[in-house]
Amino acid sequence: MSETKSGPQPRASVLQIKAYVPGTAREGAGKVYKLSSNETPLGPSPKARHAYVEAAEHLELYPDGGATALRQAIGARYGIDPNRIVCGAGSDELISLLCQTYLEPGDETVYSQHGFLMYKISTLASGGVPVVAPETDLTTDVDAMLACVTDRTRLVFLANPNNPTGTYLPFEEVRRLHAGLPDDVILVLDAAYAEYVRRNDYSAGIDLVANANNVVMMRTFSKIHGLAAVRLGWAFCPEAIADILNRVRGPFNVNTPAIAAGVAAIGDAAFMDKAIAHNERWLPWLTGELETLGLSVTPSVGNFILVHFPDTDGKRAPDADACLQDRGVYVRRMEAYGLPHALRVTIGTEEANRLVVEALAAFMRNG
Ligand SMILES: Cc1ncc(COP(=O)(O)O)c(C=O)c1O
Repeated sequence: MSETKSGPQPRASVLQIKAYVPGTAREGAGKVYKLSSNETPLGPSPKARHAYVEAAEHLELYPDGGATALRQAIGARYGIDPNRIVCGAGSDELISLLCQTYLEPGDETVYSQHGFLMYKISTLASGGVPVVAPETDLTTDVDAMLACVTDRTRLVFLANPNNPTGTYLPFEEVRRLHAGLPDDVILVLDAAYAEYVRRNDYSAGIDLVANANNVVMMRTFSKIHGLAAVRLGWAFCPEAIADILNRVRGPFNVNTPAIAAGVAAIGDAAFMDKAIAHNERWLPWLTGELETLGLSVTPSVGNFILVHFPDTDGKRAPDADACLQDRGVYVRRMEAYGLPHALRVTIGTEEANRLVVEALAAFMRNG
């Protein structure tokens, strides 16, 4: 029997969307460690927290719709023109705005096989068609991405480093990707984890944006700055793209406490240094310890690792997840990314990291 439609109907592509399922941590009897959303274990910068609380004095006033103080602070920090910065309620909003603005129904976006899920969701929400490029060794493959480009392609999303794989493309490869795109296709460089990367051949892409009319770089305050709760991200754009996004976005899309916290966070270099040092110590430690247990870990340059489990009874990723949860540790299942044998683990506090190793050591021993 064919399904009859009644009542209001969304655009057809929207029905293909599976709602994004965020990382969780259920409060239990004991202490809970949330390693499921790539949040920082260090909390927010105390300066950002203070600025946020102070901003609560004037919640009766609309925000500065241009987020001027924040754009100026970001501009000064990175040496870029504040007029070419657009702020959003998280980089999620910026991804959505780009899709809303640049896709006609049937237009295509390209991203890699295990690219961040919001690229697909925002594409479908805008009536677009997601096109997925295969990866090589869980890493974006520039040739495969370019092979997916057609005359319907409007946006190419590159998370660099990528979530959930933790892998990255050297800047020369990013340049090669850009060079292969027609100039009416926007290359979106999503550099949500850029601050954590310690590689000489990496760049978030500011230079490319500065010198091209079709490259946008996005950043977030949710990760190293520890401000995921306030929802704050920004995009550095060519002038014409900034102008268009400013017409489409909500006039007050970024709220006053978020702006205040963002200004304080971007100025707190010591806090960022601390976060980088923490990651530099614990990322290799956790990777090495889990490899010693016989698990395979995809080399990561971010603040998280993708851990691969055997496909044998009692040793699968869901079994490991249950074992971790028994000890109050919550990590991210990867079925939604087509990686059912993997778990993504955020680098946590020393206590949390040691608990992960202890729990998985027992798991591998006993099953
Ligand atoms: C690659 C990537 N891009 C964007 C985001 C979204 O970040 P925001 O909190 O700024 O919306 C995330 C969050 O996990 C991410 O991993």
